[in-house]
Amino acid sequence: MVRINLRSQERYGGVLNAPHRAFLRSIGFSDEDIGKPLVAVVAAWSEAGPCNIHTLQLAVHVKEGVRRGGGGSPLTVPTIVVNDNIGMGTEGMRYSLVSRDVIADTIEAQVNAHAFDGFVGIGGCDKTTPGILMAMARLNIPAVYLYGGTAEPGFYGNLKLTIEDVHEAIGAYLAGKITEDELYEIEKRAHPTYGTCAGMFTANTMAAIAEALGMALPGSASPPATSARRVMYAVESGVALMNAMELGIKPRDVMTYEAFENAITVLMAMGGSTNAILHLLAIAYEAGVKLTLEDFDRISRRTPYIASLRPGGDYVMADLDAVGGVPLVMLKLLKAGLLNGKVLTITGKTMEENLKNYKFPNVPHDHIVRDVSNPIKPWGGIRILKAHWRLRVL
Ligand code: FES
Repeated sequence: MVRINLRSQERYGGVLNAPHRAFLRSIGFSDEDIGKPLVAVVAAWSEAGPCNIHTLQLAVHVKEGVRRGGGGSPLTVPTIVVNDNIGMGTEGMRYSLVSRDVIADTIEAQVNAHAFDGFVGIGGCDKTTPGILMAMARLNIPAVYLYGGTAEPGFYGNLKLTIEDVHEAIGAYLAGKITEDELYEIEKRAHPTYGTCAGMFTANTMAAIAEALGMALPGSASPPATSARRVMYAVESGVALMNAMELGIKPRDVMTYEAFENAITVLMAMGGSTNAILHLLAIAYEAGVKLTLEDFDRISRRTPYIASLRPGGDYVMADLDAVGGVPLVMLKLLKAGLLNGKVLTITGKTMEENLKNYKFPNVPHDHIVRDVSNPIKPWGGIRILKAHWRLRVL
């Protein structure tokens, strides 16, 4: 029994809404479908790069989860993607940050215009995750985030490659350290599968943050885009949304100040992207949470950097996945008293309960994720620097 008020029934129920229902019938809805909660599966989808090329396929599996057990009536709707790596260093990059807000706006427009009762948002490339989380916070109707997943790393001899290596290889070529043929080989091998940039760059950072905020299923940030577990998480995200609707859980119940503190703690422990600061500030603004640079500074000072992930460390997201993913980092932080385990998550359980129930692989992990007592650095991966200006009157 879904506990939230179904705004879809105000749009599609009753005699006077017959024209609206007629259009749902035109897309294959039965009377029974019309009577169920209307769910949007928002896919940030584009063929213009590898990061989000597969999200429509994931949407099919999310819909399966939404329908499971007679749950809801799902419809896929799109939003845009601006590919950061393709825009980087060009005027294309001018469109990158603004695309985040366009994503939030297009989700708001579609979800409100069609009176959806809840939505699952599927993201990938850098700005898609924060844009989707902003929309979730702004609309405050039940919502679950699903990440499309990282690309697998490439290989060149013994070197494990990410897209970063192509940028580095250009420098090496221009400095006369490698040949044009070597650069060409690195270019061909750097990003061998679909999915996002393989290191702890902005896309993977924001995926980890969605999990740390409690808006994505535990463990769903790290499996590669090519992993069969992506399908599992897609189905489970649909199921989780229906569960959240039944429990009446809304994004602002989850994205509290304490949840943002947890997200910043994970960001600092994992050496995530500096871009996460501006994205978290924007998401917090939409959630009505007052977050400032002081929060990042304070949390950075108390949080050790423990995950050796590129570009700061040695490993990629797929390596982290093999040893326990983001929950492994979170469990270590929780045990050290650095994470608030009492916060509610989209599963309807607290963060602590989620981590206790999580099935960790029994494999060595110290080379990738260290204990808090033996960190890579005693402070967080990002430091807030301040400049003090003195106005001199001549
Ligand atoms: Fe899309 Fe890096 S360019 S994740």
